[in-house]
Amino acid sequence: MANKKFTIGLLTSGGDSPGMNPCIRAVVRAAASHDAQVIGIMDGYEGLINGEFRPLGPRDVGGIMQRGGTILQTRRSKRFMEKTYQREAIRNMNSAGMDGLIVIGGEGSLKGAHALAEQGIKVVGIPGSIDNDIWGTDMAIGVDTAMNTIMDAIDKLRDTASSHGRAFLVEVMGRGCGYLAVLAGIVSGAEMVITPESPVTVEEVAKAVEDAYLRGKRHAIIIVAEGASLKVVDLARAMDEMDVGFTTRVTILGHIQRGGSPTAFERMLATRMGVKAVEALVSGQTDVMAALQGRTMGLVPLTEVTNKTRSINPEYFEMAHILSR
Ligand code: F6P
Repeated sequence: MANKKFTIGLLTSGGDSPGMNPCIRAVVRAAASHDAQVIGIMDGYEGLINGEFRPLGPRDVGGIMQRGGTILQTRRSKRFMEKTYQREAIRNMNSAGMDGLIVIGGEGSLKGAHALAEQGIKVVGIPGSIDNDIWGTDMAIGVDTAMNTIMDAIDKLRDTASSHGRAFLVEVMGRGCGYLAVLAGIVSGAEMVITPESPVTVEEVAKAVEDAYLRGKRHAIIIVAEGASLKVVDLARAMDEMDVGFTTRVTILGHIQRGGSPTAFERMLATRMGVKAVEALVSGQTDVMAALQGRTMGLVPLTEVTNKTRSINPEYFEMAHILSR
């Protein structure tokens, strides 16, 4: 019997993020360079449970580098957290001859990867989430592109805000993490940033906006993370009632932040992570995640990733604040 090739299962899971496609491409082509083969698993863990597999060769991943989304599709699978379905998934992996699995996804998806590793499956994770809330890596796949989308949108909003002398409340994604909001605040020159990590009252927001008006600003941009306790619509209503100098408008950027062609930085990050994950898997490593650590592409244990919380550098909050004068 001819030697069986080392076979890698590959899936994308949870919320999609721009950069997943270049990562898929990197995994498939790096695997080929190790004489390994890749089986694509459709629809994240749901596809693993249902046995929805398709072989992925180097030609199948041509022309996807610049595309947002994921050619493997993705789902949020609640049932994969249950042992019964994990067992089904392992059974399917075994009958398809998979020797290891690469999971590209966010916190929940990496928890699923760790659960499989604990049951003896060789698994390597790749952080993919626009929120940048995954412990152990400086950046996750999707963050840079989402940040650029936000920056572009706010640049446009500022034009109209200035013309009309208005305050804009801009809601950005980030369910439990204000990373996008704070960084967007710095790169877009916002007057104020509101995050789950730094709660403020309606009165504090109103005062900051009125102060900006008194200092002669022609507009005010307030970026609000979706996970913040103050909600943009309530805040806008309250500010209009309080009369803060500017009239208020609300823009919720929503899922537009999750799409679009990945930036150059993103493609490079996704490619490096894909190559690293394949190297790790073929050399026998498991229960680890590819992680950007400064300029180095390293590996961190999934136990730590799934148990620790990533915090935002406090200097960024300070910077966003002092530069808003
Ligand atoms: O986790 C990424 C994220 O985009 C969050 O910022 C957001 O709260 C959530 O996904 C939205 O999820 P869905 O696409 O399932 O509505």
